[in-house]
Amino acid sequence: MEKIIKEELQGTPLSQATGPGHSRKLYIESYGCQMNFSDSEIVASILSEEGFGTTQRMEEADLILVNTCSIREKAELTVRKRLELFNAVKKTNPNLRVGVLGCMAERLKSKLLEEEKIVDMVVGPDAYKDLPNLVREVDGGRQAVNVLLSREETYGDVSPVRLGTNGVTAFVSITRGCDNMCTFCVVPFTRGRERSRDPQSILDEVADLWNRGYREVTLLGQNVDSYLWYGGGLKKDFEKASPMQQATAVNFAGLLDRVARAQPRMRIRFSTSNPQDMTMEVIDTMAMHPNICNYIHLPVQSGSDRILQAMNRLHTREEYFALIDGIRKRIPDCGISQDMIAGFPGETEEDHQQTLSLMEYVKYDFGFMFAYSERPGTLAARKLADDVPEAVKKRRLREIIDLQQQHSRYRNEQHLGQVEEVLIEGDSRKSDAHWMGRNTQNTVVVFPKEHYRIGDFVMVRIEGCTSATLLGKAMGYSENQ
Ligand code: SAH
Ligand code: F3S
Repeated sequence: MEKIIKEELQGTPLSQATGPGHSRKLYIESYGCQMNFSDSEIVASILSEEGFGTTQRMEEADLILVNTCSIREKAELTVRKRLELFNAVKKTNPNLRVGVLGCMAERLKSKLLEEEKIVDMVVGPDAYKDLPNLVREVDGGRQAVNVLLSREETYGDVSPVRLGTNGVTAFVSITRGCDNMCTFCVVPFTRGRERSRDPQSILDEVADLWNRGYREVTLLGQNVDSYLWYGGGLKKDFEKASPMQQATAVNFAGLLDRVARAQPRMRIRFSTSNPQDMTMEVIDTMAMHPNICNYIHLPVQSGSDRILQAMNRLHTREEYFALIDGIRKRIPDCGISQDMIAGFPGETEEDHQQTLSLMEYVKYDFGFMFAYSERPGTLAARKLADDVPEAVKKRRLREIIDLQQQHSRYRNEQHLGQVEEVLIEGDSRKSDAHWMGRNTQNTVVVFPKEHYRIGDFVMVRIEGCTSATLLGKAMGYSENQ
């Protein structure tokens, strides 16, 4: 379960079985992070009540929605290209309406209506419950915009329609927004202040997923360790809560513990962890429950203290190492992955070497690596010159990716000869005769199908590997089956 949805899935239209009462067709594409893919399921659910079924054929759609990402400039350019294509479809179907959802909608607001003549509707991430009204507006031939950010909205009361699902793994969002203000990041501006969802609604959703055959959930948030429920409200207002509310509050470790106990056979993952907020209590909770996977996505962005500070990441290199040591002590086989940014403003060769040496220390299982992309409105854009030449950014990124590949191979080799539990998710990408699934560390494992089925927990002996995949042979069902 990569944190960022795989490249080949970016933009795939997702659909559910069309039910009775669906008189109109919605075509929805999603870009960017898991949260966006999860939000599209909330959008499909809200519009399903309005008579919309989903389709994978844009030609037959009455409404096209594109759930967008603003994290890097390239993500926005991809969406602009898609809008050109929708324009062509609109020419053959004048009744078609097109809407932009998500972070680009929030960042550009009504500017999108002026810049992209084909867009009828612009809806920010906290305004999806207003979609029925907005759709009525555009049905009446008017343009519609709602980009209000909310202090409360968590969609905890919306039961998502699962789109394009394998029926085995699902995302469940637990927080929205982010209060961290990393200086390079547009998310706090596009997704607003941080708020947590009622634990009971999370437990209900996970129970419902289990009853429908799902066997793994990933609890989602921009910064899951910061989860805090005290009866509703913003994270930053916790200090103003009543003594009773404070005493009965549920933090992330508490939430993990409840979910793990409530569904002892469900595999539980979470993403994303922020080093400055992750606690040993969370790691101890992971160690205590066999159904919480031994895997942590722990972005660091840079190995240089100077750059970490300029990024407003509120920890040092040494503190990060202490956290890694703490994880490895309690959970020796824990998979750890990273996000890294090459060429942040002011990054010197020395800073870059510090990043490589940090990677040498951790030897991540895998990672997501990017060249710095200046985002309008962020502190870095306002205060710092984007001064690392493009060619230097690219070269540093290449070096980071090459080193990560070596480490991924090294980590994968440690699995050779082991027998590991794998949850089968579907066909291997390369062969219909093989299943793909993941081990607890989140590494993809591929093995011959035999009599096993999607959703089975199988013990697999690892016999080979590439830097990205483990290859094995099933030895029987696991005791979790
Ligand atoms: N906490 C979030 C982070 C979202 S952004 C989460 O849930 O994962 C995902 C990653 O994109 C970041 O960790 C960072 O490595 C990268 N990123 C964010 N802003 C960027 C920018 N301006 N340029 C390049 N990469 C960026
Ligand atoms: Fe962005 Fe930093 Fe939050 S990367 S999403 S501001 S933790």
